[in-house]
Amino acid sequence: MKINTAEFVISNSDVSKCPKDTLPEYAFIGRSNVGKSSLINMITNHKNLAKTSSKPGKTQLINHFKINNNWFLVDLPGYGYAKVSKKTKDTFQQFITDYFEKRKQLVCAFVLIDIRLEAQKIDLEFINYLGESEIPFCLIFTKADKIGKTKIQNHIATYKKQLLANDWEEMPPFFVSSSLEGTGKDEILLYIDQINQDIFKQNGF
Ligand code: GTP
Ligand code: MG
Repeated sequence: MKINTAEFVISNSDVSKCPKDTLPEYAFIGRSNVGKSSLINMITNHKNLAKTSSKPGKTQLINHFKINNNWFLVDLPGYGYAKVSKKTKDTFQQFITDYFEKRKQLVCAFVLIDIRLEAQKIDLEFINYLGESEIPFCLIFTKADKIGKTKIQNHIATYKKQLLANDWEEMPPFFVSSSLEGTGKDEILLYIDQINQDIFKQNGF
């Protein structure tokens, strides 16, 4: 899929104030600093569409970006950032949970995982939460430029084992990405495009 337009629409901390459009949307979620905002910029060919930072805790709101005028990408705050106060963390968690529970337009969540790390408890808990809530999701292993090709394969194999050990029957669809090198862009966009095509067909477009 070619990206013709990508525009910021609105930021907020209240799911009821998200855009009313019924367009399909895809949310990027994962631990702080994993690379959610950078990946949104990379796949939309924009340097500064989503705000990024080397310090964790940059994205603090639900951010809607309208793509090609017919679907949304959503950048969310990270979970698991120890340095924000407990109160801020609870508020974050509440509106993120609200988003996942109430946002009917969400068709797929992309859970971003740093390719260099072993499966983290907080990610496994979040993945389990998505499974229990019957929210479709994929994994995106980020920062692939930081390790060699063989290591990438080993990490994915280890991750799969850890998911299976956590009662998952199979590995969900997954992608390997590097925002620095552009890796994964075509695959992720193709995946989104195929879902969009199905939805538009079902809706008689
Ligand atoms: P929060 O908004 O704080 O939750 O973080 P985030 O997940 O949106 O991460 P962000 O995109 O802001 O990136 C965090 C840091 O990781 C930045 O310094 C990025 O430059 C760096 N980064 C992101 N993606 C990649 C990547 O693919 N490769 C490398 N080498 N660095 C990356
Ligand atoms: Mg961010």
